[in-house]
Amino acid sequence: MDELKNRIQNDGKALSNQVLLVDSFLNHQIDIELMEHIGEEFARIFRDQAPTRVVTIESSGIAPALMTARALNIPLVVMKKATSSLLTEDILQTPVMSYTKGSSYQLMIKRQFIDKDDRVLIIDDFLANGEAALGAARLIENAGATVAGIGIVIEKAFQNGKKRLSDSGYQVESLASISYMNEGVVEFDEDK
Ligand code: G4P
Repeated sequence: MDELKNRIQNDGKALSNQVLLVDSFLNHQIDIELMEHIGEEFARIFRDQAPTRVVTIESSGIAPALMTARALNIPLVVMKKATSSLLTEDILQTPVMSYTKGSSYQLMIKRQFIDKDDRVLIIDDFLANGEAALGAARLIENAGATVAGIGIVIEKAFQNGKKRLSDSGYQVESLASISYMNEGVVEFDEDK
């Protein structure tokens, strides 16, 4: 998606070969018009999969997921990173390890927000090692529902997330795929 790639080149900042700062338009300040276009693009890509719900993970996935759900006219559910063991309602949860952040958390969702016959489109901001998306997919399948696809705004293609998700049988589509980055340099896959 050229608009997104141009934005990353102009306003993103690669801090290292691991971390791309996009906080001026994606995960701190949010460019709503760009999010709208991202939502329309995910809707175009995944409409044929007939998704019935969009699911994302708090917090940075919410903006693109919201616009995707709007474009598809289906509900959005936000999976929570549980910090308390006091949650007593009927919940599904699974551990997720974040290598980027060097910590793990429990990903959780109330069972009532996913039906067995749902076809769920997972949307997230970044794909690195795929741990978050795999955790979300586990919860969706534990609820008896189907993963209709996984849409990622920015894929770090030099990490193995895409391969792990594809090997697990999921359709994964990213709008910008970074093949290489380092301090001040970002390069994209040619065909994205
Ligand atoms: P993985 O799920 O693909 O394995 O990725 P990983 O755990 O390594 O990433 C964890 C968190 O780090 C995610 O945020 C993800 O959005 C963020 N992240 C990964 N790579 C980058 C990057 O290059 N730049 C930025 N800005 N963020 C990155 P999170 O823990 O879900 O937190 P939140 O920001 O959504 O609240």
